[in-house]
Amino acid sequence: MNLLKRLGCRRASVLGLLAATVLVTPGTATGAPDAVQASTLGAQAAQSGRYFGTAVSAGRLGDGTYTGILDREFNSVTAENEMKWDATEPSRGSFTFGRADQIANRAQARGQRLRGHTLVWHSQLPGWVGSIRDANTLRGVMNNHITTVMNRYKGRIHSWDVVNEAFADGGSGQMRSSVFRDVLGTGFIEQAFRTARSADPAAKLCYNDYNIENWSDAKTQGVYRMVRDFKSRGVPIDCVGLQAHFGAGGPPGSFQTTLSNFAALGVDVQITELDIAQAPPTAYANTVRACMNVPRCTGITVWGIRDSDSWRSGENPLLFDRSGNKKPAYNATLTAMGGTPTAAHGKPAVTP
Ligand code: XIL
Repeated sequence: MNLLKRLGCRRASVLGLLAATVLVTPGTATGAPDAVQASTLGAQAAQSGRYFGTAVSAGRLGDGTYTGILDREFNSVTAENEMKWDATEPSRGSFTFGRADQIANRAQARGQRLRGHTLVWHSQLPGWVGSIRDANTLRGVMNNHITTVMNRYKGRIHSWDVVNEAFADGGSGQMRSSVFRDVLGTGFIEQAFRTARSADPAAKLCYNDYNIENWSDAKTQGVYRMVRDFKSRGVPIDCVGLQAHFGAGGPPGSFQTTLSNFAALGVDVQITELDIAQAPPTAYANTVRACMNVPRCTGITVWGIRDSDSWRSGENPLLFDRSGNKKPAYNATLTAMGGTPTAAHGKPAVTP
């Protein structure tokens, strides 16, 4: 039964209540089921079982404009920096979770889902880890870090970026040099995923990287071969995160192909850190549409809320301007998910 029928004679008043967030359109003469179109990113993504998230910075949680948009639009949250190694284990064996907890608790209280970012990464890594030269020591330190951080948020994180950015740019298709690869060998990724599975068996375990969006790139191929190898040998991996930090041209033409090819290996794919220089509406629409067209693309995260919150703030790459107003890319994104942008007062916006 469709929503209008279920609402019955109370339809008008209930619709009045819903008007701020949901628009209901009657079925068409084609007999297709009634489309229920939401007017926020998270609500619209949820209609296809997906999430739409953002990176959140603990230092901005006191800003009412910021939290207003966060709670209205997004149903998943990634800590922008607060769960990284330098924030959670600044000295060996001494863990600090204050700011990560702030983000996690706030999200949980509002029913927003949490992505975990990130456990093993060469960057934002404290110096004490980088200077370890003994393999047994480093293996123990890495396993302890993964286990302790995952335990802290056990059962509360839908997907964890277990390993971030382990592959090299350029034409090699190989792993980059890092203390992990150089001291433990390339098997460190497998080790990290096995440890992560034991720590929180309910979390989806992701490999996350940038510049793996273009199918023919050597880096994409290198990651693809690793995931294929993991799946064939039963190494626990559930998802590939494609960061999607794009230039003004947006995603490469092969982006959807890349998403489906990874998905065909038996993993989910997620767009994990989306931002696009100058935020051209078409570039955002193309990115979002690629995800919507791939059933195992389970969610999209943009890397910040307003342009002023972005790590690339000079490029104005996000969906909200510095005052918190929706940019044209916002409407393009919502529309690409099948939603209906609203103008002021909850009325449908005039679409171009
Ligand atoms: C960035 C943050 O946005 C910045 O605040 C920080 O100074 C550096 O890191 N790839 C990642 C993210 O996986 O963690 C990075 O986040 C952006 C690139």
